[in-house]
Amino acid sequence: MRRAIIKGVGGYVPEDVLTNDMLERMVSTNNQWILERTGIAQRRILKDKTLGSSFMATKAAETLLKNTNTDPSQIDLVICATTTPDHVFPATANIVSDKAGIKQAFSFDVSAACSGFLYALYTASKYIESGSHQKAIVIGVDKMSSIIDYADRATSIIFGDGAGAVLLEASESGNGIIDGQMYSDGVGAKHLHQKAGGSAIPPSKHTIDQRLHFAYQEGPAVFKWAVTKMADVTEEVMKRNGLTADNLDWLVPHQANKRIIDATARRAGLAEEKVMLNIEKYGNTTSGTLPLCLYDYQSQLQDGQNLMLCAFGGGFTWGALYLKWGS
Ligand code: UT7
Repeated sequence: MRRAIIKGVGGYVPEDVLTNDMLERMVSTNNQWILERTGIAQRRILKDKTLGSSFMATKAAETLLKNTNTDPSQIDLVICATTTPDHVFPATANIVSDKAGIKQAFSFDVSAACSGFLYALYTASKYIESGSHQKAIVIGVDKMSSIIDYADRATSIIFGDGAGAVLLEASESGNGIIDGQMYSDGVGAKHLHQKAGGSAIPPSKHTIDQRLHFAYQEGPAVFKWAVTKMADVTEEVMKRNGLTADNLDWLVPHQANKRIIDATARRAGLAEEKVMLNIEKYGNTTSGTLPLCLYDYQSQLQDGQNLMLCAFGGGFTWGALYLKWGS
């Protein structure tokens, strides 16, 4: 059975750190509230205003190519998940491919907010499984600081910048991406979106004056959906693959809020040690969270281990994906 395996992982976060203490001086909030309600202590921010998401994505892709000893000419597919593309067009995937020297691939972006990386990984796995493509890079990147209003405490405390990338290849070893289930429901659009800048409300003096180019989030409404749907879909994919708290080795959850992660882990019956967590140091990097988790934990991953990735985000979009680690 031909499956897509994750051959390697790359990651990049910018150097500049935005701590809770610093936020206290920018907006009406406090360190204790942020820690208790979200689990976030700090985030990374790409301060250079001349650099977009492609900068971080290229860094992650280049690390990945180096770590896996892969020549860029071997890559035949690049999918980039991002909510903060460099431009409305062309796709950030096209720009990253060019910067990383990838010239033999077809490349496109996936827009699914915080579920973007999961959607992109699931999509890329199908190209590998079908045999049409041999080596795919899947990137999750967001420069959330470019669309965050640092006067809005509902969003500024959560989001950060970062990128991660994985290399997919085919294998018949039994390892690889085994199952996935993705969902979306546009009813969620009103709770989490960017009001202007697209074709419905193009940029104008009015949209800038009204501060409509920032991320808008009704936190409690999103929280309710996230906490239910991420746990539901994880349980669904676990059940149909015979996975239990005993034989599932790692939960790799989207890092939006530690309380959402805890609820999902609790429903799956998983002990804390089996849950990948880096929200404390990076916050919510949107498309970057899942590959950055894999990047941070890769030295602890062993051949044949069962991993469950899950995410929930704007759209609404959500899903879970089961894979066996290793070549
Ligand atoms: O990435 C995928 C999509 N996003 C998510 O999954 C995020 C989901 N939502 C959340 O994580 C949470 O809703 C937030 C972290 C955004 C907010 O936490 P919450 O527990 O839902 O807070 P809340 O908005 O219900 O506010 C609770 C209280 C309120 O005070 P009162 O009315 O109880 O006195 C707020 O005014 O906390 C207050 N509050 C704050 N206090 C200090 C709200 N935001 C803040 C803040 N700092 N930043």
